[in-house]
Amino acid sequence: MNIKFKIGIILVLLMATLAMQNTATAQLKAETAEQKAKRMEWWTDARFGMFIHWGLYALPARHEWVKNAERMTNEQYQKYFEEFNPDLYNPKEWARMAKEAGMKYVVLTAKHHEGFCQFDSKFTDYKSTNTPFGRDVIKEYVEALRAEGLKVGFYYSLIDWHHPDYTIDSCHPQRQESDSAYTRLNKGRDMSKYREYLKNQVRELLTNYGEISVIWFDFSFPGKNGKDHNDWGSEDLLKMVRTLQPGIIIDDRLDLKDQDGGWDFESPEQYKVEKWPTRNGKKVAWETCQTFSGSWGYYRDENTWKSTPQLLELLIESVSKGGNLLLNVGPTGRGVFDFRAQERLKSMGEWMKFNNRSIYNCTEAPAEFAAPANTLLTYNPKTKRLYVHLLSYPMGRLVLKNMADKVKYIQFLHDASEIKFQSAGGDEKNNLNIELPVIKPPVEIVVLEVILK
Ligand code: GLC
Repeated sequence: MNIKFKIGIILVLLMATLAMQNTATAQLKAETAEQKAKRMEWWTDARFGMFIHWGLYALPARHEWVKNAERMTNEQYQKYFEEFNPDLYNPKEWARMAKEAGMKYVVLTAKHHEGFCQFDSKFTDYKSTNTPFGRDVIKEYVEALRAEGLKVGFYYSLIDWHHPDYTIDSCHPQRQESDSAYTRLNKGRDMSKYREYLKNQVRELLTNYGEISVIWFDFSFPGKNGKDHNDWGSEDLLKMVRTLQPGIIIDDRLDLKDQDGGWDFESPEQYKVEKWPTRNGKKVAWETCQTFSGSWGYYRDENTWKSTPQLLELLIESVSKGGNLLLNVGPTGRGVFDFRAQERLKSMGEWMKFNNRSIYNCTEAPAEFAAPANTLLTYNPKTKRLYVHLLSYPMGRLVLKNMADKVKYIQFLHDASEIKFQSAGGDEKNNLNIELPVIKPPVEIVVLEVILK
């Protein structure tokens, strides 16, 4: 081939690559609020997803941070790699349970802070396919989810306590007291190599498994002996992610919070928000991630499990403030969901079966509707239906203030049975008195469906 021709081909290829990247960048920055809302619509409609934390830490069964908490070295942690053999792993079961609970999407740890990869990466030996288990966990998970019509999400830890080039920091199992100790230990470690590794792995995850709907990066901790967007190469990474999967939804932990297009949703962890979170005065998309108990990974002896009513309230309250709930399960070292999680998923599913209309496609109710005491309101803007969740079941009467002119019909959501109402009359004639049966129906949290005029 003559040299001019070769150079010509190289130039064309280069221009094509640049053009592709530019489109992605332009798209990222130029997206209007409406376009973003459209891209995220399936997610805001879904409201309820499952988080799954599953890695080698399922074996010690005492928190996914066990390597850090007990300051284990790679050598000490190696026994879990050698014993990893979850013979009962059946993601079809996982997908079925998520779906029956009413969840619409699932996010699984492809790699957690321990550095172990649940997929057959070309860039490491520290992966499920090299354990006695020998299988690509992610591949089977993706297939099982798709078969159930669930959206597929990956969690990928930015932090890595196993990689030899990842510098020791304040979050690391080998964290130090003095600057000189850090300097000594980090000699020879090269974050630019780790950055490349991270990017290569994310490329694999977003190339080899078809359409991926959510990616959850975790997490940045800027400051002294911390790590921020420069350490991860966040901007560059994000551009690649958007190029590979234009529709994907991304959390807010890449330390690009001030950047336009640097994140899609806020991720309040393990607490209920006071009100719908805002940024520069505008309401933002958000998802709270929560555990059933105090740990994300399987923790055999942890006993602070939330009850079903508490969990339902968490879900309803999130929707009542315009947000999503990502509820976490930590499967055991055999590959099955903790029996306590199974119980709760089942009861939540029973409630969802009859009441999901107050969750899916719903959001915060317009300000004109005031929630009576001990209730939470959600609202479906398309069908114009208001949902009143009775957290404690009232005796006989409930009053809806200033609504007599707005309501057409009211029914219990779970059985579509009519609920009678009338104007309170006199000075309060725009208030509605609602007559409820004395006995609470056999539903964990009873919901009134109010059909508006
Ligand atoms: C925290 C923890 C982590 C967990 C995550 C879920 O950042 O480090 O273990 O995966 O929260 O949001």
